[in-house]
Amino acid sequence: MLPFQVITPEVASQQGLQQVYMSKHGILYLGDCLKLLSVLPDESIDLIFADPPFNLGKEYGEGVSDRMEVDKYLEWSQQWIGECVRVLKPGGSLFIFNLPKWCIEYGAYLNRQGMWFRHWIACRMPKAFPRGKKMSPAHYGLIYYTKGEPTVFNKVYTPIQVCRHCGGEIRDYGGHRKKLNEKGINLMDVWDTPEDVWDDTAEANSSEVLWTLTEEMWTDIPPVRHRRHKKRVPNELAPIMLERIIAMASNPGQIVFDPFGGSGTTFYAAERLHRYWIGSEIGDTNPAVERLTDLANGVLEQWESARGSKKPKPNKTTASQLPIPFST
Ligand SMILES: C[S@@+](CC[C@H](N)C(=O)[O-])C[C@H]1O[C@@H](n2cnc3c(N)ncnc32)[C@H](O)[C@@H]1O
Repeated sequence: MLPFQVITPEVASQQGLQQVYMSKHGILYLGDCLKLLSVLPDESIDLIFADPPFNLGKEYGEGVSDRMEVDKYLEWSQQWIGECVRVLKPGGSLFIFNLPKWCIEYGAYLNRQGMWFRHWIACRMPKAFPRGKKMSPAHYGLIYYTKGEPTVFNKVYTPIQVCRHCGGEIRDYGGHRKKLNEKGINLMDVWDTPEDVWDDTAEANSSEVLWTLTEEMWTDIPPVRHRRHKKRVPNELAPIMLERIIAMASNPGQIVFDPFGGSGTTFYAAERLHRYWIGSEIGDTNPAVERLTDLANGVLEQWESARGSKKPKPNKTTASQLPIPFST
């Protein structure tokens, strides 16, 4: 039985959770993630992705505080992280996206819970400015832990990065260079070819793309900042990021949980990759509901623009027509 099937309408309403969207793959609740977590069974989830408020004083809507005292923020973080550890299956994966300042605290806590550290993924943060006596921030942290030996680790490939000016490869792959996959050997991230992730397709010629096993530095995640590419104000992530995480750390038919649903990027990616999913959002759930409804109806253009592409995509594509990656 899927975890959301054990949450009856009575149980949900006792917790103040309101079901706002349901598909055959997933369910979204309007409400506090701690309430939803409290009714999820132990060891019932395969993969958790969490992108909590960063405590930077952003506006997420009524009832959401994004400016807590440090102790309070960490105490609250330990509550939801502790619950995430409880509901994760043995071998399941947990990814948390936040500022390095909070990621180190989370890592220390997760280490104490006996979780296994896998990676600190650096997601490039473009155009950030230094404040005070600091260096320029250049990345967000994406920490990746598993509950013991990982059950699923699919090899995911990404296009190797080339210089936008000379076209040369940025990294020196040395003797490993000849082991890189020629385009087509592995289709992972295939809809995220350079046309999708770079503003100017002249920056890379997709017919010459070589693929490399995903590294710990993610420089190809477009920020979804510009109003034109954004369906809601705070912090919508790019689908490429969630697709990569979900493809890497789960298999079709497994269950993905996101406590901080926001505009529904995780659920959108889970639907596309045929994973079950469950999530909560305490603020406005309309953007997520609209996005999932559009996906179900094959209306993708405005959501796909959030990849950062300048090229319009066909606006009528059914979910089953979308390319589904494989990663072996
Ligand atoms: C950084 S945003 C997540 C954005 C999301 N990853 C996306 O791509 O749209 C954090 C979200 O957590 C929500 N939130 C804050 N506290 C929450 C809580 N206790 N339970 C559920 N959601 C919460 C906020 O309203 C906000 O939408």
